[in-house]
Amino acid sequence: MRKLPTRIGLALAGVAFFSIALAVSVAVIAEPAPKPVAGITNIMNAVNHETEGLYGMIKKFCDGGGQGSADQWKMMRHRAQVMAECGNILMAKSPPRGADDAAGMAKWKQHCANFRDASKKLSKALAFKKMNKVTPALAAVAAQCDACHNDHKSN
Ligand code: HEC
Repeated sequence: MRKLPTRIGLALAGVAFFSIALAVSVAVIAEPAPKPVAGITNIMNAVNHETEGLYGMIKKFCDGGGQGSADQWKMMRHRAQVMAECGNILMAKSPPRGADDAAGMAKWKQHCANFRDASKKLSKALAFKKMNKVTPALAAVAAQCDACHNDHKSN
C-alpha cells in the first residue's frame, strides 16, 4: 500500500477532528429540555394571585402607598422580574380555551409577551420608588391579566 502524502494525512486528521467536534456539539444541543413542572394554574396562584401571589404582594405594598425600606422596594422588583419571567414560561403552555389553532396559539403567545413586557416595565418603575411611576405600571399589568383571561380563561 502506498503511503499517503503528509499533507493529505493532516487534512484527513483535521476532517476527523472537526467531525467529532461537530458530533459532540450536536449531542449537547440535542439534549432534551427539562420537563416542565408547574402548570398554568400553579403559576396563576403562586405568582399572579391578587392577594396570595407575588403580584398580590406588590399590589398590597403599592396600595399601602409604597411605605417601605429600600430593601422592601428591592424585593418588589425581584417579584416583578419573576412575574415577567413567567410570561416567558407561559408561552410554552396551551391555555384551556381559545388556542385550538395556529391563530389562537399566536394570540396566546402575544398575551404572554404583553404580560411579560408590562411586568418588566413595572420592575423598572419600582426602581424609582415613586408611586406616580408605579401606579400606572401596576394598572397596565392588571389590564394584561384581564385581556388574557377574556380570551383564554375557561370561565
Ligand atoms: C397570558 C395569559 C394570562 C395572563 C397574563 C394572566 N392569566 Fe391568570 N389565567 C390564565 C388562564 C389561561 C387561566 C385558567 C387556567 C386553567 O383553568 O387551566 C388563568 C387563571 C387564573 C386564576 C385562577 C386559578 C385557579 O386556581 O383556578 C387566577 C387567580 C388568575 N388567573 C389570576 C391572574 C392575575 C391576577 C393576573 C395578572 C397579574 C393573571 N392571572 C394574568 C391566563 C392568564
